[in-house]
Amino acid sequence: MISRRAVLLGGAAAGAAGFAPSALGRMPLSRDTLPRSAPVRHLALAAAEMEVALLGPDKPKTKGFCAYNGTPFLTLRAPQGTRLMVDFDNRLPDYTTVHWHGVRVPYLSDGVSPLTQAAIPAGGRFTYDVPLPDPGFYFFHPHCDETGQVGRGLVGLIFVDDPAEAKLGFDLDHIIAVKDWRLDESGGWLPMFTDEGASTAGTFGTVRATNGQVVPPRVEAPAHGDVRLRVIVADSTRTIDFGCETDEAAIIAIDGQALPPLLLSKLPDEIWRMGPAMRIDVHVRMPGPGEEVKVYDYRTAEPYLLTTLVAVDKGRRKTPFKPKALPAARVPLPDMKRATRLEYLVQTAAGPTIIAPALPADDPLAKALIESACVGSKAFWAINRNSWGAGADLRLPPPLQILKDGESYILSITNVTKHVHPMHLHGHVFRVLSSSKKTGIPPYLADTVMTEPNETVEIAFRANSGDWVFHCHILEHMDSGLMGWFRVV
Ligand code: C2O
Ligand code: CU
Repeated sequence: MISRRAVLLGGAAAGAAGFAPSALGRMPLSRDTLPRSAPVRHLALAAAEMEVALLGPDKPKTKGFCAYNGTPFLTLRAPQGTRLMVDFDNRLPDYTTVHWHGVRVPYLSDGVSPLTQAAIPAGGRFTYDVPLPDPGFYFFHPHCDETGQVGRGLVGLIFVDDPAEAKLGFDLDHIIAVKDWRLDESGGWLPMFTDEGASTAGTFGTVRATNGQVVPPRVEAPAHGDVRLRVIVADSTRTIDFGCETDEAAIIAIDGQALPPLLLSKLPDEIWRMGPAMRIDVHVRMPGPGEEVKVYDYRTAEPYLLTTLVAVDKGRRKTPFKPKALPAARVPLPDMKRATRLEYLVQTAAGPTIIAPALPADDPLAKALIESACVGSKAFWAINRNSWGAGADLRLPPPLQILKDGESYILSITNVTKHVHPMHLHGHVFRVLSSSKKTGIPPYLADTVMTEPNETVEIAFRANSGDWVFHCHILEHMDSGLMGWFRVV
């Protein structure tokens, strides 16, 4: 492994040599998604290493676990319409940034080094302006050495509450965070990035866990009551096939955005496939006293038990199951009549990257590039033949496209590789229009969409000004080239 410092120094030279007059046009403006009068909450957020028992209670502890505010899966909750002003303090020994996944933040708070900010060095600070315009389930994580830092635990969750949801009367709101640990028997970390994994399906953890625990949690809920599960794949690599051992379960939100309830039992194979970063909210009706609902990942040969819901008698009577619909999502929607169609291939990297029309030296990007080096060591993947910078080549690829603020676009994404790629677009909530393989699923809103080998997926969105990356959320894929960006002006 090349040390980050060596990459950094090499990068300064490579970066400086790469700059030439730009064809990229002006820098985008940073648009706010909440009025300046929105209520503000100040939050002190620190990332640091700690020691945790990951293998189980009587097993050796693991050093170098990474967490926000000393809490694994730190969970933030705020009402819709709040602005978080986050005073972030990097107490890790490495560069980092914070990305607010799925939240429509101004792009200067998007946390992507070197595109929207320079990486924050050890001991450094940065203030993030995080408006929360949309109710739902989001999360935050670093966008610098993501494979390593997320792999060692650095993930936080955000719930943005809509007061109207209280009326739905759920008895329990319960999180299922799927995240494995890559440890040896003495609790030490194994390498998170391997060439073997990065160039195929990714490097998997050695120990499966739910909410950080290796023993699948058992959770009590009122018999005949209503549970809202908040499911997230927070793993760097793993894709799950989420399913419940009951017919009385429905998906009511995807990536935090409400949709007309989709009964799990009506979906193909009665599962919902979720790659890294994907979330769903599921309404589960509890059975009678003493009975259980088991929640599984059916993707592995032997189904993996994620969580058991145990029904306890609270005097409820049985009523017919009717999935609860959340208030409709309010994100900007694309204008399908005027949308421009763009086509992208997700592919393996073949030969050298096409090099950018480079940026002018006074562009903030040029400076940021020289100051930080959040890149992986190799490029195995590409989008339309461009790989994100890797190794000593820190130059950004050219933008996939320069888009117009407020205009609508359809991206047709074809996966021509042998592996699944959950594709995430920053700064937008898009509509998943269609898939060449999965039929019968009505269009829905999301920020990350699964693409299977030989599948074409179409998504549509209304472009919001900024520089926004578009990448695979299998973190080793992203760290080995599977990332591009759009400039919206
Ligand atoms: Cu979850 Cu580029 O991010
Ligand atoms: Cu991928």
